[in-house]
Amino acid sequence: MEKKRRVPVLWLQMQDCTGCSESFIRSSHPKAGSVLLDMISLEYSELLSAASGHQAEMARKRVMKEHDGEYLLVVEGSIPRQEYCATIGGVSAKELLLESARGAKAIIAYGTCSSWGGIAGAKPNPTEAVSVADLVTDKPVIRVPGCPPIGEVMTGVIAHMITFDRLPELDHLGRPKAFYRHRIHDKCNRRAYFDAGLFAESFDDEGAKQGYCLYKLGCKGPTTYNSCAEMRWNGGVGFPILSGNPCIGCSEKNFWDNGPLFVRR
Ligand code: SF4
Ligand code: SF4
Ligand code: F3S
Repeated sequence: MEKKRRVPVLWLQMQDCTGCSESFIRSSHPKAGSVLLDMISLEYSELLSAASGHQAEMARKRVMKEHDGEYLLVVEGSIPRQEYCATIGGVSAKELLLESARGAKAIIAYGTCSSWGGIAGAKPNPTEAVSVADLVTDKPVIRVPGCPPIGEVMTGVIAHMITFDRLPELDHLGRPKAFYRHRIHDKCNRRAYFDAGLFAESFDDEGAKQGYCLYKLGCKGPTTYNSCAEMRWNGGVGFPILSGNPCIGCSEKNFWDNGPLFVRR
């Protein structure tokens, strides 16, 4: 069988914490290694490239020239409108994004920071951080939010795009429906307790020990769209609510500003 050509990928990191990349490399199905070795050719990544400095910049520019209209651009981290706040290779993050986006076939805004602005965009937003879609309006931008997102969601999105050579089906906010169509609340293992009106009132009361619903401790599962309750983390082992922690809504827009992340009791 003819082997498909690996798709060139440029992976930019702007105002980020690298948590999104760290999550990606831990994907277990498909394994990040299979994605990197069989599906894509990662030509530029601040975390994973062997090259650095001028060599890395040359690789980015070569891909833009030789694969105009063919490469995928992944962006991790928000972009500051205050251009002096983040520079890479001597140019501002905004300039780097606009330049790299020009010849991209599609852009994946990977993580809450690049999807919505994330932590840097939280009030008072001193860098005037914005999302990729706030700056790039003439290319398809796929939002894969989460702080960080589940690694398997990202490898799943990439695998879909490479296999079918088209964008996955997106919802009205640009998120792949396959992974963001349900609320955490819809698939939560504690949902039966919510329906029965059984709630933990504090993190160490009898209700918490019994696994009751965490709504009264600030759980944002009823308003958060993500796959955590179905796919779970670390190869399907767990997710925040299973570990006794409310969902803080990390894949939602403005989640840092949307009320208290935790309710202390
Ligand atoms: Fe880090 Fe979260 Fe931003 Fe990803 S979305 S770069 S994990 S702060
Ligand atoms: Fe819904 Fe959160 Fe309760 Fe789960 S713990 S049932 S997501 S409110
Ligand atoms: Fe984030 Fe809530 Fe999942 S906090 S990791 S969306 S359970």
